[in-house]
Order: sequence, then C-alpha cells, then structure tokens
Amino acid sequence: MKEKLHNLFNHAVEQLKNVSTVDEFEELRIKYLGKKSELSQVLKDLKNFSQEERASIGKFVNEIKGKMENIFSETIENIKNVEMEKKLKEEVLDITLPGKKIRLGHKNPIQIVLDEIQDIFLNMGFSIEEGPDIDTEYYNFEALNIYKDHPARSEQDTFYIDDTHVLRTHTSTVQIRTMENKKPPIKIISPGRVYRSDALDATHSPVFYQMEGLVVDKDINMAHLKGTLEKFIKTMFGDNIKTKFRAHYFPFTEPSAEMDVSCFVCKGKGCSICKGSGYIEILGCGMVHPDVLERCEINSEEYRGFAFGFGIDRMVMLKYGIEDIRLLYESDLRFLSQF
Ligand code: PHE
Repeated sequence: MKEKLHNLFNHAVEQLKNVSTVDEFEELRIKYLGKKSELSQVLKDLKNFSQEERASIGKFVNEIKGKMENIFSETIENIKNVEMEKKLKEEVLDITLPGKKIRLGHKNPIQIVLDEIQDIFLNMGFSIEEGPDIDTEYYNFEALNIYKDHPARSEQDTFYIDDTHVLRTHTSTVQIRTMENKKPPIKIISPGRVYRSDALDATHSPVFYQMEGLVVDKDINMAHLKGTLEKFIKTMFGDNIKTKFRAHYFPFTEPSAEMDVSCFVCKGKGCSICKGSGYIEILGCGMVHPDVLERCEINSEEYRGFAFGFGIDRMVMLKYGIEDIRLLYESDLRFLSQF
C-alpha cells in the first residue's frame, strides 16, 4: 500500500514536469487530487482497516496528500509566472507611438444658428413652444384665415397625409395651439421643421427650418414689432445692418409687412447677391388679424398681437455666405467640418 502511494506520488511529480499550461495542470490536479482520484479512494477505504492500522495508514496517506498538494501548488505558481512573463513580453506598450485621435462630432450650421437665434429671443423674455410636424388642415390653414381655394394655399402647397392632415408648411400652427391653450400675455417663439412641395434647387428645399414668433398682450402695436425685430437682427448680424419694412400681405396679419436687411456682401451698394437692390428680404411679419385672435377665444378689442416668421436656413446662408441650400442637408463632411 505504502509503495503504491509512493509510486503514485512519483508519477505525479514526473507528469507535472511536462505541464506548461493551466489546462494541462487542471487535468492532472483532478486526476491526482480530485474526488475520484486514487488518493481519495484510499482515504475512503480506510474504514475497512482495523483501528491501529487505520491510524498509521491514515497518517501516511495524509502525509502523501500534503506533499502532493504542495507540489501541485508550486507547479501552478510557476506556470502562472511563466505565462505572465510571456504576456508581458508580447504586449509591449510603446508609449512613443502617436495615440489614436477620437474625432468629436459637432453641430450642423443650422443648429449653430438656431441656438444663437433662440438665445437672442430667450434674452428678450420669449419662451420656446413646439408642435407636431403633421397637423390638421385647420391649424395649418383655416385657423389662419387661409380657407379652401384661397390663393395662399397654393403658394404653400404641401404634402397631404390624408384628406385632413398635412405636413405643416409653417410653424404658425404652434401659434394657434398656444393661443388656444394659454391666455395672454403670450410671448413665444416656435422653431421647427416645415415642409413645402417645392422642387429642390439652390434656394429651395422641400424640408427646411423656420422660426416664428408671437406676442399677444394689451396695447401691443407695430412699434413693438419693429423694435423687437430690429434688436434681433442687430444682435445677430451687427449694428451696421440697416433694416427696412415693406408693406406686404399675409392672410393672418393686418397690416402685414416684409422686412429687408441691407446686403451683407455689398453693404447696400447693389451686387449679384441682392440682385442690385442693396437689400435682402429676410422675414414676414404683421399684427395678428383680429379674426385669428377671436377664433382662439382671445378678445380682439382688449388684446393685440404681432407675429413674425423666417427661414432659419436662409439666416444660415446669409451668415456664412452659403449660396446653395442643398449643402446644408447633404451631410458632406468636407462642407460640414468647416463650421
Ligand atoms: N407663416 C408665414 C410663412 O411661413 C410667415 C409669417 C409669420 C408672416 C408671421 C407673418 C407673420 O410664410
């Protein structure tokens, strides 16, 4: 019996010499020290011996077991050390190599200008309102005095979702929704995406961004409108910019106007950008039509309002001297990374 256990131990020592990986080691450990190993079997069989024999054999078996455990734990230490050294050698970190640059994304120019415009109006006490891109004909047209067959409808021809729902052609829809839900004083801007079934060319896109504004309160007049818009334009483009209001027509404002700004390129002398006029048309505006107020249950005898609207894309193009609107939507990094 003793000899058998000695041989077992010697065998284990011999075999452990050839082990170089953790997996191989594990296999041997189970074979020699596992539950089904010969050593465990001998320990189980001890009960068949007499009391005295049991004591002396047991002591011997435990000695062998202890030696066996020692040699196994020495071996695994060695294997791990060797593996670690190998790994360290293979994975040399060359700190002199240049690092990999993580390129940060940044805002699209439309977003840059939109943020800037919002800041200007927020500083003047406006708050931001948003509404759905798909809206009913009522909010997009009728509530704004644009009835069926009104010529202004074909000017803003749009995409119909079904018989009564459209992709909004302007964010005036948000003004109506706000007047229905809030009582004056109202002082909001409504930025957002709008849609018109225009063919795509250098100055038109079927999808573009717009910002409209609305102020409703007692004693609001045209001077407030002019003052607010002039302040906005000068903050945005600089104090040297001149503004000019021209009478115009919108079904939902009365009186209505368009605002022009002196040309950024020729400073008012006349060039190809302003088509020789020295001025560039920049936004539409006017005093909210009393019928529009009444439809939202705002007493037009007591309250007045002014409204304005402009294309954000156009502001971007003017600010950066971009001549083709398509560049803003093509996701061409050669263009976008310039901002
Ligand atoms: N809703 C108009 C448009 O999209 C712009 C506008 C808004 C004009 C408010 C006057 C007053 O063309």
